[in-house]
Amino acid sequence: MNSQKKGTILLAEDDYLVGKEIERKVEQLGYQVAGIAPNGEKAVEMAYTLQPDLILMDIKMPKLDGLAASRLIQEKCQIPIIILTAYESIELFEEATDIGVLSYLVKPPKTDDMKRAIAITLARFKDLTELRQVKLKLEKSLNDKETLLKEIHHRVKNNMTIISSLLKLQLNIVDDEKAKEALQDSQNRVQTMSMIHETLYRSEDMSSIDMQTYLPELGRTIFQSYIVSDNVNLKVEAENIIIGVKQLSPIGLIVNELITNSLKYAFPDNQKGEVKIILQKREDQIELEYSDNGIGIQEDFDWKNTKSMGLNLVKILAENQLDGSIDMESENGTKFTIKFNIET
Ligand SMILES: Nc1ncnc2c1ncn2[C@@H]1O[C@H](COP(=O)(O)OP(=O)(O)OP(=O)(O)O)[C@@H](O)[C@H]1O
Ligand SMILES: [Mg+2]
Repeated sequence: MNSQKKGTILLAEDDYLVGKEIERKVEQLGYQVAGIAPNGEKAVEMAYTLQPDLILMDIKMPKLDGLAASRLIQEKCQIPIIILTAYESIELFEEATDIGVLSYLVKPPKTDDMKRAIAITLARFKDLTELRQVKLKLEKSLNDKETLLKEIHHRVKNNMTIISSLLKLQLNIVDDEKAKEALQDSQNRVQTMSMIHETLYRSEDMSSIDMQTYLPELGRTIFQSYIVSDNVNLKVEAENIIIGVKQLSPIGLIVNELITNSLKYAFPDNQKGEVKIILQKREDQIELEYSDNGIGIQEDFDWKNTKSMGLNLVKILAENQLDGSIDMESENGTKFTIKFNIET
């Protein structure tokens, strides 16, 4: 801005005398006239080179009209524009607003009207610039957070891959069958957690997952991690239910334990059978029904008070982490029913 003057203004006006008259009024108001463009093309060129604080733009001009010139100027630089029009027209003003013109004056403009329009336009422009800056800042900070979140997921996943590799290494060294089995189970647990992270990391908002696609994928992955013959069939039916990160991990781990058990105990001697997982909405609760049609758990087995880790984990995850209930039936195989509320 000029030190003595309030600011510089570019005039675009094809009528020389009208231009001179407006120039006089502008100067009277204390602004400096950067130049008078006789047509739209010249107005665009002068706007780029002179970078005035404001432009007073006539609509009807040769070569390029005032609206087209305004559009070109707004595309390249941020300068507030007031259009000068010989007649009042809503359509015209709407079109001008779309382009980003901030105000308009009816010709010939009175000095007082001009004073008010310029002051309002400059103030509006300042507000808009500030808003634009805030928006840019917010966008940047959001981008940074998203990058950070992805980076964290990535690292967590990497760490789990390392843990999984370490367990595999030990698995190859250990001879004892029981120890081998325990290590294999632990490796699967880590793998399941790793998969949950992977799914989240790939999901759009990274905070929730649609179970309809996730659950079958999870089931398949766990199934594939067991080198068994294809005597057992997996069937997964999940309704379109969105689950948040917090509940996703316990569900994943529960399913992992139950599938592991079915594949280990339910079908001895390559017996044929099926594992079925159903996830559905029941009234206002979510019901996860897991079943296999294998040999079933022994009737006198007190599974809720077992010292073994698997079912103990399932119970803790269902009751404490999902804040739900869990029941088991052993009839034509094994069936677990877990009910919980979706946490929002
Ligand atoms: N689907 C099933 N069919 C038949 N028996 C089962 C089934 N699930 C569990 N069992 C029996 O219940 C026992 C306890 O299972 P649990 O998962 O708690 O321990 P685990 O599998 O022996 O060891 P881990 O702690 O590694 O899971 C198993 O040893 C098995 O005898
Ligand atoms: Mg188990």
